Amino acid sequence: MCGIVGYVGSRDATEVVINGLQRLEYRGYDSAGIAIYDPTIGLQLRRSVGKLHNLQQRLAAEPTRGQIGIGHTRWATHGGVTEINAHPHRDASGTIVVIQNGIVENYLQLKGRLIELGYQFESQTDTEVIAKLVGLYYHQHRDLVTAVRQTLQELRGGNAIVAFCIHEPDTLVAARLGNAGGVVIGLGDNEQFIASDIPAILDYTRNLIFLEDRDVAVVRRHEVTITHLDGTPVERAIHAIPWDPIAAAKGDYRHFMQKEIDEQPRALMDVLRGRIDQEHGRIELTDIRLSDADLRRVRRIYAVACGTAWHAGLVAKFLIEQLARVRVEVDYASEFRYRNPILQSDDERDALLLAITQSGETVDTLAAMEEARNQGVSSVAIVNAIGSQAARLADGGPIYLHAGPEIGVASTKAFTSMLVAAYLFALRLAQARGTLTPAQIREHIQALIELPGKAAQTIEQTTPLCIKLAERYHKASNALFLGRQINYPIALEGALKLKEISYIHAEGYPAGEMKHGPIALIDEQMPVICIAPRDHIYEKMVSNIEQVRARHGQVIAIGHLGDELLAEKAHHLIGVPATLPLLQPVLNVIPLQIFAYHVAVLRGCDADQPRNLAKSVTVE
Ligand code: F6R
Repeated sequence: MCGIVGYVGSRDATEVVINGLQRLEYRGYDSAGIAIYDPTIGLQLRRSVGKLHNLQQRLAAEPTRGQIGIGHTRWATHGGVTEINAHPHRDASGTIVVIQNGIVENYLQLKGRLIELGYQFESQTDTEVIAKLVGLYYHQHRDLVTAVRQTLQELRGGNAIVAFCIHEPDTLVAARLGNAGGVVIGLGDNEQFIASDIPAILDYTRNLIFLEDRDVAVVRRHEVTITHLDGTPVERAIHAIPWDPIAAAKGDYRHFMQKEIDEQPRALMDVLRGRIDQEHGRIELTDIRLSDADLRRVRRIYAVACGTAWHAGLVAKFLIEQLARVRVEVDYASEFRYRNPILQSDDERDALLLAITQSGETVDTLAAMEEARNQGVSSVAIVNAIGSQAARLADGGPIYLHAGPEIGVASTKAFTSMLVAAYLFALRLAQARGTLTPAQIREHIQALIELPGKAAQTIEQTTPLCIKLAERYHKASNALFLGRQINYPIALEGALKLKEISYIHAEGYPAGEMKHGPIALIDEQMPVICIAPRDHIYEKMVSNIEQVRARHGQVIAIGHLGDELLAEKAHHLIGVPATLPLLQPVLNVIPLQIFAYHVAVLRGCDADQPRNLAKSVTVE
């Protein structure tokens, strides 16, 4: 969703803010703007519709100068994509500027009240209402932080905001209300940074403070003070973040997505690191704050997530049910939060919520975690972004992916890392509950250890064929992805990857369901991607492939390397190395990512920033 950057110090604020916005480009946006202040020049505001490049061109023609400033990339919610609607927005006197990530649900009411007071609005945004309100209260109190606090008390919804006033030329006020977006403060040496996402400021500092709900921070060159919305001081921990800024750069790759696909062997090693005791054949998932007794008590797990992470949840259901014999329900977080779920009865406190989220900021997933908390249910979060809200809400502990920043909007390395994190969690549960023998646990551990190498082999050996297939099928207007059991979510994920970055209509289906409708779509133009590893359901998949061929569909099979039968039945076989059936999805999805990527590139689509999409979905 929207991206936020702020800076105060002695550097060129324009450069820092634009650099930060560039690092946030992956979030997706439709316009951008900055406000920079210099005491001799005054407040300088520049806004442009479209990519950041347009704003940079504007700045080349009309440069800004100063050592304090804020910047924003907008993903439109209220009001169309116009320059006037781009942030920052100003108060009535033009001395205060505000940027926001989130939604003011009662903005029409507030706007009506301000109009009655004689205020005029230039934009259709809810953010301008915030700016006008801050201005109103500033002129009463002559104190920016007080004005921001008073304003926030009137807003409904979730917001992250940053405000600046020329009468307090060394101060930025940043605040977070609810879960609509994170705010991270980067601490420097006599300079401070503010951002919605860590990568925006990683070039400058790794010492970060994450604002909690209802925190208000006064950020000055030499100090940062944080208070609660009611003004009481609060202490927030400083986190030292290990992410390397190089990891957030594209290097020689054309797209982040391609780089992140290639990073998967490394990411799989990182998610396993320190969590396996090979010598004793044990899983050491010390991240989770649940004892063996707690894990034995669990009788039901609710996995909640959105999008690709939801597909990881569907895989997690198989892993946990098969390995630990605990029932798992998987829900879209956006549905779960509104269905008044019955998580546990009063006499059985035996449920656990498993939230899965790369960003740790997805608003619906956070709301689902809050629902669990309200019902007295503990949660564990499989999460990538260190210090994110999901990580902090997870009282049972965050299981970090340690995949490094994922910049491409379409999730790749985070997804495969989620599958492995879920595998570790399922094994940890099994270990506590005694549902696997030590020998079985050792077998799983061995397969996990071999996985990064097999992922590397998969990338290397399947890429040339995936490129050829992309050349052949990139003009298709529909595609069908079929899988069964634990590979059905992989069919869903393959379809999602293709549709979101290439805009080809694609559907994922359980292969057995094909006959109940989608088979009608199949003709000689239709690529049908069938995931058919040699598992207990292999023969059923082969029958489904025959059925597709009988309707002249073009079958692309994902199967084990050297599977001659499959090679004969399908038009094309993408062979991947074999691993344990429950781990096979990790390898099966890789060629689907590679195929989708190359189709998108051949169709001239921006694989990193697909239209209309945002990396972190912080609004409903
Ligand atoms: C698709 C994709 C999205 C995200 C979803 C949840 O490639 O990346 O579907 O998976 O928006 O995001 P997180 O994992 O950050 O909660």
